[in-house]
Amino acid sequence: MEELISAALIARGSAYAPYSRFAVGAAVRGGSGRIYGGSNIENASYGLTMCAERVAIFKAVSEGEKEIAALAVAADTPSPASPCGACRQVMAEFGINEVVMCNTKGERRTVTLAELLPYAFDKADLPGE
Ligand code: THU
Repeated sequence: MEELISAALIARGSAYAPYSRFAVGAAVRGGSGRIYGGSNIENASYGLTMCAERVAIFKAVSEGEKEIAALAVAADTPSPASPCGACRQVMAEFGINEVVMCNTKGERRTVTLAELLPYAFDKADLPGE
């Protein structure tokens, strides 16, 4: 887990956040064992901004990872950084169970996705799934 947290903190250094000036880093470990980092990427058209968590997840999935067990997220927040609702739903899609929330002070909080997103919308509820 230390490796994943370090990767999230390193990825935070690549944040493109000229509008909010709020840098976020995330990292996931794919089933292959490989770690993928991601940072938030903002846009002058603000709504196009992408969170660090989804950048990390999409990098892993687009490289062929089928399973992602854990995600770490880090930001300079008073308490460990908590993922937004959209990212929680994307985590549910790929079965990410363990989420380590961190801040730059070294505080950590490890939670399950069920704690972060109870009663999640589940693809199993779609017709034909
Ligand atoms: N942000 C993330 O990267 N992850 C989150 O879970 C919450 C918010 C980013 C989006 C935006 O670039 C900045 O933080 C301020 O909302």
